[in-house]
Amino acid sequence: MVIIEVVMGDITREDVDAIVTAANESLLGGGGVDGAIHQAAGPRLARAGGAIGPCEPGNAMATPAFDLNPPVRHIIHAVGPIWEGGGHGEADVLASCYRRSLQVADELGARSIAFPAIATGVYGFPADQAARIAVATVRSTATNVQRVRLVAFDEDAREHLQAALTATG
Ligand code: APR
Repeated sequence: MVIIEVVMGDITREDVDAIVTAANESLLGGGGVDGAIHQAAGPRLARAGGAIGPCEPGNAMATPAFDLNPPVRHIIHAVGPIWEGGGHGEADVLASCYRRSLQVADELGARSIAFPAIATGVYGFPADQAARIAVATVRSTATNVQRVRLVAFDEDAREHLQAALTATG
């Protein structure tokens, strides 16, 4: 049974086997959490991302973590949906980001993973609905990952994630 924790902080400081970035399809890096992770991992990350991209929304692809400190060994690049009002399958694409990231973590043998609140920044996905999707998908995905940390960058995100976790018992 996977342990799910809600924490608040900078995902680049997480002590887990793999951290997930909220990427764009190019995997070349961008702003937000993607920018922070590329900054911390160094320029090799964009080169590695460019070599395996593009990555379609809902999918996830892994690279090494380069300059990030141990124990982080892997960066999993997940591309979230751009929010267009909710009637264009955005929820399913977001759920797929979490599901595919766990599948990729299993392929890597990762036992602990940290997720940002994918798609809730630039991509505009409502944070409360995204939090429920994140928790529900992690709970319902068979995985060998033992510890999942949902990292909020602000209090609002933390409250939504904690409420979603508490609501599912
Ligand atoms: N640690 C943890 N979470 C963070 C950090 C950080 N250092 N920096 C930002 N966040 C949070 C934001 O507060 C937001 O809740 O990550 C969440 C996702 O926001 P974005 O980074 O804007 O990602 P997203 O909404 O998925 O948009 C992706 O933005 O940066 C570009 O290249 C990226 O084109 C892609 C798009």
